[in-house]
Amino acid sequence: MVDSKPLRFGEIDPAIEARVDELLARMTLAEKIGQMNQSDVHVLSDPAGAIRSGAIGSLLSIVDPARINHYQRIAVEESRLGIPLIVGNDVIHGYRTIFPIPLAESCTWDPALLERAARVAAEEASACGTDWIFAPMVDVGRDPRWGRVAEGAGEDVFLGMELARARVRGFQAADLESGRRIVACPKHYVAYGAAEAGRDYNTVDMSERTLREVYLPPFKAAFDAGAGSVMSAFNDLNGVPATANPLTLRTILRDEWQWEGVVLTDYNAVGELVEHGIAEDDRAAARLSALAGVDMDMITNAFDKHLTELVESGEVPESVIDAAVRRILRLKFQLGLFERPYSDEALVEQIILRDDFRTIALEVAQKSMVLLKNDGVLPLTPAIKRLAVIGPLADDKHAPLGCWAGQGRADDVETVLDGLRSVFGAAVELTHVRGCDVKGESIDEIDAAVSTTREADVAVLVIGESADMSGEAHSRVYLGLPGRQQKLVEAVVATGKPVVVVLMAGRPLVIPWLAEHTSAILLAWHAGIRTGTAVANLLCGAVNPSGKLTASFPRAEGQIPVYYAHKNTGRPAHGPGTKQFEDPFRSTYIDSPNEPLYPFGFGLSYTTFDYSDVQIDAPELSADGTLRISAVVRNTGSCAGDEVVQLYIRDDVASVTRAVKELKGFQRVSLQPGEERTVRFEVSAQSLGFYTPALEYIVEPGRFTAWIGPDSARGLEARFVVKG
Ligand code: NOJ
Repeated sequence: MVDSKPLRFGEIDPAIEARVDELLARMTLAEKIGQMNQSDVHVLSDPAGAIRSGAIGSLLSIVDPARINHYQRIAVEESRLGIPLIVGNDVIHGYRTIFPIPLAESCTWDPALLERAARVAAEEASACGTDWIFAPMVDVGRDPRWGRVAEGAGEDVFLGMELARARVRGFQAADLESGRRIVACPKHYVAYGAAEAGRDYNTVDMSERTLREVYLPPFKAAFDAGAGSVMSAFNDLNGVPATANPLTLRTILRDEWQWEGVVLTDYNAVGELVEHGIAEDDRAAARLSALAGVDMDMITNAFDKHLTELVESGEVPESVIDAAVRRILRLKFQLGLFERPYSDEALVEQIILRDDFRTIALEVAQKSMVLLKNDGVLPLTPAIKRLAVIGPLADDKHAPLGCWAGQGRADDVETVLDGLRSVFGAAVELTHVRGCDVKGESIDEIDAAVSTTREADVAVLVIGESADMSGEAHSRVYLGLPGRQQKLVEAVVATGKPVVVVLMAGRPLVIPWLAEHTSAILLAWHAGIRTGTAVANLLCGAVNPSGKLTASFPRAEGQIPVYYAHKNTGRPAHGPGTKQFEDPFRSTYIDSPNEPLYPFGFGLSYTTFDYSDVQIDAPELSADGTLRISAVVRNTGSCAGDEVVQLYIRDDVASVTRAVKELKGFQRVSLQPGEERTVRFEVSAQSLGFYTPALEYIVEPGRFTAWIGPDSARGLEARFVVKG
């Protein structure tokens, strides 16, 4: 697979504009509005007729390449103007080659690898007729109750921006083997990740400063990388639904950012303006969203039904329609759909699930898993002869597929049991007992799990969430182990044998008991089709764990939201771990430390890394200068390993309160035992600014603190000053 320059959309090319002008001039109002209508052939009574009449510009949720070509032929060869359809689909963590869920992928901290993973998805999707990928999801997620944290890159803005860029580049790779092109659709614009109480679709109320500093930047990063479309979110934002929000859709997107891509709504989001209570009916909803800046209506049919009349009555100027259609046609031209409307069905078999794709999926899975605890039992040594493989997820082919597996199939999945069998071979006797269900109440097999563990040297307990416990509309309030799994672990741990937990999850879980009582915890997430080999390679030490958390693991649900880039308050705790009674009248709890169980950036390795000699080249810099900072990182253990070196910065005194630290750089370095490396970062002073109360972005002179370290809670400290 060759790496190539990605395509850039959302920009103006005069040659394409001329083609758009020419076509637009020939279109009737109805044909224009047809382009703004995205529909699903499965819900239409006469899809062929609707496409032939020009009433549909785009299809979604159609994946059979032959059917796609069939409808495309009708659009191109039988409609009056022959404008091709653009076909959109959700390709969230792989198309058929299923990768770890995006939250897991983000724990690789490896943008180049995730660019390749996104490209694999694009190769498969485009070979099957998809032109438009509804991803990456770039919503910052700080509330693990929200099931959709699984789909994002975690709690951090800087990492979210890096990974947004990488994924857009991968999806929009210029030379896909199908010869076709893909456009990415970052979503959900905007602030969807801040749903109150972590309940999906819930209301969002936040300051415009937080919006601009935390929730908007990953979108801007995706557009800067060339993303050609965006999906408007379901939620309301400060009282105005995102799908009818002139501030975000017009002022920010068009006026400030000068971005020319297509705004597509989320599923039925125009229609839901009625439920939000800002529109009397679909007609009003169509008017509000079109005027606010929506270009294409996903599935509501409200544009199709009402825009003609709204234009004729003067409620929506035709110039609004023309601008939207211009953007849609521009995208279709940029995608080359007029020249190459059909996919080559013969190619599908050669592309899908190719060996090199499966190899990349394995690499991502191995790098995304996070070793949370290890008392020394891992890696499992050759002295171990009998393994008890316990738990409802040990031989489960569905959970590893995760929350949004597209065309993924359970048959493609290597379970943990499969992986252990093939990696350990006949040298180790494996006995598997499920113990209990993931969600059910049955405890019948717990006794068998206990007796099997007693006969073994070590128990590997594969437990956690099933795939359907995270993702859209799958929020939870209890974040412990579901069903009777806690009872199962307690019974197995009570045998006194070493217990290694392989934890599958779509979100950070609340696992203080596991952290205290088990021997080791490998967080496997939902890691895709190569889960089994990845887990086995990590457990036996063939591969050294290197993933680091991108979302804090709370100690208790009551701490949520808990994230590292919090404010200090006027009464911060005097030290980590303190509670209200030891540290009275501070911003603490009576019954828990403030800190999460495992912080952002945390992850163990089978080796150890030592940090020393943090240095700043010039500790005074101007507002247009660059901070150059470095530290020496040394592998002090006995095996090779990767370390994700992290740089955090705090603006110590500013005219508005700032986070206690913010990630501003990271590097994954591979070090042999005894090897050391000077890891250098460059940070422009311009990126250290913030929004004033008047919402002006400024870089304020003053003192800053920087840390280079292994996670957000530790690091070597250095100081610098930005001069006025
Ligand atoms: C609703 C989801 O919010 C969105 O992420 C997805 O792309 C659309 N449905 C289309 O399936």
